[in-house]
Amino acid sequence: MSTRTLIRGGLVITATDETHADVLIEDGRIAALAAHGSQAATAWSAERVLDATGKYVIPGGVDAHTHMELPFGGTFASDTFETGTRAAAWGGTTTIVDFAVQSKGHALREGLDAWHAKADGKCAIDYGFHMILSDVNESSLKEMDLLVEEGITSFKLFMAYPGVFYSDDGQVLRAMQRSAGNGGLIMMHAENGIAIDVLVEQALQRGETDPRHHGEVRKVLLEAEATHRAIQLARVAGAPLYVVHVSAEEAVAELAAARDKGLPVFGETCPQYLFLSTDNLAEPDFEGAKYVCSTPLRPREHQAALWRGLRTNDLQVVSTDHCPFCFVGQKELGRGDFSKIPNGLPGVENRMDLLHQAVLDGHITRRRWIEIACASPARMFGLYGKKGTIAPGADADVVIYDPAVEQVLSAETHHMNVDYSAYEGKRVTGRVETVLSRGEVVIDQREFTGRAGHGAYVPRGVSQYVG
Ligand code: URP
Ligand code: ZN
Ligand code: ZN
Ligand code: ZN
Repeated sequence: MSTRTLIRGGLVITATDETHADVLIEDGRIAALAAHGSQAATAWSAERVLDATGKYVIPGGVDAHTHMELPFGGTFASDTFETGTRAAAWGGTTTIVDFAVQSKGHALREGLDAWHAKADGKCAIDYGFHMILSDVNESSLKEMDLLVEEGITSFKLFMAYPGVFYSDDGQVLRAMQRSAGNGGLIMMHAENGIAIDVLVEQALQRGETDPRHHGEVRKVLLEAEATHRAIQLARVAGAPLYVVHVSAEEAVAELAAARDKGLPVFGETCPQYLFLSTDNLAEPDFEGAKYVCSTPLRPREHQAALWRGLRTNDLQVVSTDHCPFCFVGQKELGRGDFSKIPNGLPGVENRMDLLHQAVLDGHITRRRWIEIACASPARMFGLYGKKGTIAPGADADVVIYDPAVEQVLSAETHHMNVDYSAYEGKRVTGRVETVLSRGEVVIDQREFTGRAGHGAYVPRGVSQYVG
């Protein structure tokens, strides 16, 4: 028995096209598109007809960097896979790629199994996993090959956080060499964590304990240096490289220089670096703790370079690095010592709206909005075709987006399980109205109609940028 849904009257926007078309959905997939009022479109019938007149019809967002329930800094990110994926749906995101974590001294498989257990049966939208490597050794290197085979095709390494996730240059090189052979993509947290830890110690000794010092010790130069080093190591290994959460102009310059040489080097930035700054970190009464993440927020002057990078394709992806910690009881762990503030910001619900606002502000075009938020992350991580576009055969992950409604972002109205909004009070124009995940309506005109467990695990292919 086939179920059909018809979306009538909207402007369909993909990374490549804007077309006034009706969209026919059959059995969870896009079946066809046809111009409004065309013979084909008029002949279609369906059990469910959604009116998108005056609205955009866009692919569901693909957020390639989230951390639901991440254990970090002695606590856990406050969104579970259930609450976090529901919030994602509210914000027009229909796929996340989260990070399974290898613990030191343990197998990749154990970490992966643990993350599957956290997510299984809980998610409102589809999800995949990257793997965080915190212990690169002979046996974890061998395991990488197996993971690539089964759809975990990307691996995050940390040049930061010594004693936690940190890998030294030898481990980084070995993982890169392995990925060069198995088709995996190395994702790099590029900050010189060894040098940063020295500066943290010195700052605390001087009595500099406020949240703003988190930004001051994690220097731009130490992001740029690590980015440069990661690129050179990837060249030596003959491996592609994806640098996560790029925040500094000087780091964008390193990526741009590498890309000018034709190297397979890619970069992601996040809404917090595009819309927030060290001004937020300096907010009084410990409020700055709400904005502590790594890489840190930068002085506002860096934003122009990030927007330019997104326009010139020196940066390909905007993901959120969604890693929420409540102000009360979690961020507060770092009162009197900024180095104990758990790192991370909430944002999975806000990304599509903030980037639509960037369209209105003239930073990017509508199609580039869809490209950096849907198509390009899907392609980067081996999901494109199924995810990231509206085309026959693709999963019917579709958002009906009202580009004219104004909203005020606030913790009062958001659905993320966190007691503050990083964008409290910000006015944006545009709002998600209805969301379909594989043809099922999960947000119906601003009402949640989805369920935990609808979201399915998606094994991924190798990167379609690289392969
Ligand atoms: O501050 C951040 N970004 N927390 C999440 C972990 C990471 O480094 O991505
Ligand atoms: Zn073990
Ligand atoms: Zn990171
Ligand atoms: Zn992260």
